Amino acid sequence: MKSLAQVVCSSFGSSVGKKLLVAVTGLALLLFLAGHLAGNLLIYRGPEELNAYAHELHTALHGSLVWIARAGLLVAFVVHVALTISLARDNRKARPKAYAKPSTVQASPASRSMILSGLVILSFVVYHLLHFTVHVVDPGYDNLQYDLHGHTVPDVYHKVVVGFSSLPVSGFYILSMALLCTHLSHGFASVFQTLGLRSARTASLLKILGGAYALVIFVGNVSIPISVLAGVIKPILH
Ligand code: HEM
Repeated sequence: MKSLAQVVCSSFGSSVGKKLLVAVTGLALLLFLAGHLAGNLLIYRGPEELNAYAHELHTALHGSLVWIARAGLLVAFVVHVALTISLARDNRKARPKAYAKPSTVQASPASRSMILSGLVILSFVVYHLLHFTVHVVDPGYDNLQYDLHGHTVPDVYHKVVVGFSSLPVSGFYILSMALLCTHLSHGFASVFQTLGLRSARTASLLKILGGAYALVIFVGNVSIPISVLAGVIKPILH
């Protein structure tokens, strides 16, 4: 008789198990994006609100919450990307001869571009971390500090304002968000399909919800670089 560990390993090595993990990790990433956007939108309430929120995140549970979240995100991201690549390889192996007719005729533009948009998102995330978290893009960010009721904390508000004052940087973010959202609108419905929660009756509703979710993430995120370039969000002397 197979042990539980063997059953778990063999199911996750199977195509169904891999699809399930892609869906679950995709769902986690979708939730992260909503939470991250909600936090980012605090920028419209000014430096005090955004910097207090960022400080709270970094100090919660004696600083360990942010590391738990980072570890969870990293695992979800790596598993999502690695298993998507592995599933694409399995698919190619399963049909060694190319079809007479291209198999993508039925696929939507978003589904065809999933791998491509996924790769752009990957490069965006690497750039984004180097930009706002590691400060490699602009080491001057290390010196941006904010006085939050007598505590000196990182000035996330002015990091974003300085970062998006550059047109090429803002342009890259806006383009990446557009691709991210085509990826999301398709991925949203796929998650529910894989989890067995999509039926003929709910398919069109899920398509609309996926499109609406992607649109909210897109509009919310791109509004920030656009508002900085338009001078709506501007440096505030403290
Ligand atoms: C215009 C849109 C966005 C803005 C303004 C923004 C802003 C930021 C800022 C300021 C930080 C650093 C926070 C800090 O220092 O406390 C950050 C971190 C991060 N962002 Fe974004 N972000 C945006 C979009 C995204 C998107 C679309 C993703 C994912 C695809 C993403 C993923 C992350 C991750 C993984 C971190 C690292 C968190 C950490 O480990 O500290 N962001 N973001």
